[in-house]
Amino acid sequence: MSDITAQSEFEDAFHEVAERHERVWVFIAMVLLSLLLIGTLFFVVLDYGVVVKTDGYQTNPAAAAMTAPFADTALVRTGPDAYSVHMLAHMWAWTPSPLHVPQGAAITFYVTSADVLHGFQVPGTTVNVTAVPGIIGSVTYTFGHAGTYNIICNEYCGIGHQNMIGRIIVDPEKRL
Ligand code: CUA
Repeated sequence: MSDITAQSEFEDAFHEVAERHERVWVFIAMVLLSLLLIGTLFFVVLDYGVVVKTDGYQTNPAAAAMTAPFADTALVRTGPDAYSVHMLAHMWAWTPSPLHVPQGAAITFYVTSADVLHGFQVPGTTVNVTAVPGIIGSVTYTFGHAGTYNIICNEYCGIGHQNMIGRIIVDPEKRL
């Protein structure tokens, strides 16, 4: 037996074994991936049922009905030094904006969304509420300093998210 024949036989044997190992490992990988797929589908269906269609970005009618009080965009006086306002988030703006509020009064913001999740945040203050369709969140804040504040959206809400900026103008307290 020549060296060349021996080498060739060795290579054939090696390839046979290597291919068998490859087949086994490919088979094991396929089994594991299949189990992962079946398991994932099982738990998704268990949690959400079989969903063949969603309304995507369409507004839930129930949530839309709930936004009715938000049609009134006025700042409402609720006490000697207290006001409230309904703040509606929608793609991609805040209503009302600009909003005038008096300095030194407790302002209660009721916050919801007409469509998708938004984040109601006024930088430089502790105002930070997630705007959720169908749910009204609230936060009360007293602006100690007059000036213009930004309302930013801190929850990614689509293509116009970064431009979803509103204004709150804090009017100076009138001293008599
Ligand atoms: Cu609204 Cu991001």
